[in-house]
Amino acid sequence: MTYRQTTVRPIAGALGAEISGVDLSAPLDDASFADIHAAYLEHLVLFFPDQRLDPEALIALGRRFGELEAHPFLPNLKDHPEVVLLQKKETAETNVGNGWHSDMSFLETPPAGSVLYALDVPPYGGDTLFANMYLVHDSLSDGLKQMLGGRSAIHDYTRVFLEAARRGRTSASMEDIEAARDEMPPVEHPVFRTHPETGRKLLYVNPFFTSHLKDISPDESRPILEYLYQQTAKPESTCRYRWREHTVALWDNRCTQHYAVNDYHGHRRTMHRITIRGDRPF
Ligand code: SIN
Repeated sequence: MTYRQTTVRPIAGALGAEISGVDLSAPLDDASFADIHAAYLEHLVLFFPDQRLDPEALIALGRRFGELEAHPFLPNLKDHPEVVLLQKKETAETNVGNGWHSDMSFLETPPAGSVLYALDVPPYGGDTLFANMYLVHDSLSDGLKQMLGGRSAIHDYTRVFLEAARRGRTSASMEDIEAARDEMPPVEHPVFRTHPETGRKLLYVNPFFTSHLKDISPDESRPILEYLYQQTAKPESTCRYRWREHTVALWDNRCTQHYAVNDYHGHRRTMHRITIRGDRPF
């Protein structure tokens, strides 16, 4: 792939590239946007070091890619509800996103993409891992693909957020989260989803939000899902990013999963995140 305006440097074989030659705080011209969009479809997660983005600029950047989606439970910025504040303070024990997931797969129309901007980075640790879910799909045997092809899985936000509320890790109370159950009942998504832009098939189940395979009990589903999650976490399916302050990451939330490593106790890590609205998986 040839890029006209930007330099694209892959960081791993599976996915991920660092991009230079672009200032994300200014409106993106069409040539730069075309490069970034092509690199996003090719490398699935892009990292842009040395950017300066206040919440307005972060929102403007996200809107270049589509409408934004506010998060129902995570704490957000008072004047900018679209911007989620992901912060682990020095005294905290737990962090948000500490497990493989794709953002908000519990929605009927989960986000197409997410943008994360690093404000405070710990002196070590706090990396984020990403997995290429096309690669995981393609690595499965024909027999397993046949068995799971055409099948759906159930995604339920209560798996993670009730637990988070129990531990005081979201700004929403247990009552708020339980009350939202009627408005946000569990949803079904295909186990193998087709990416609407590339037409490629990918594995779309994740340990945070997938409760079980449709018409297969949770107990029966578990070993199958566990096998799929092991393939997701294989080093060859993933990349790992060491953050520096003022780096922006943009990932395709349809065909990747990510995992925020919690290994920097006693240090602060602060990120701003926005998510870009997506389509119903098919
Ligand atoms: C998330 O979006 O799950 C958080 C990722 C991170 O903080 O690295």
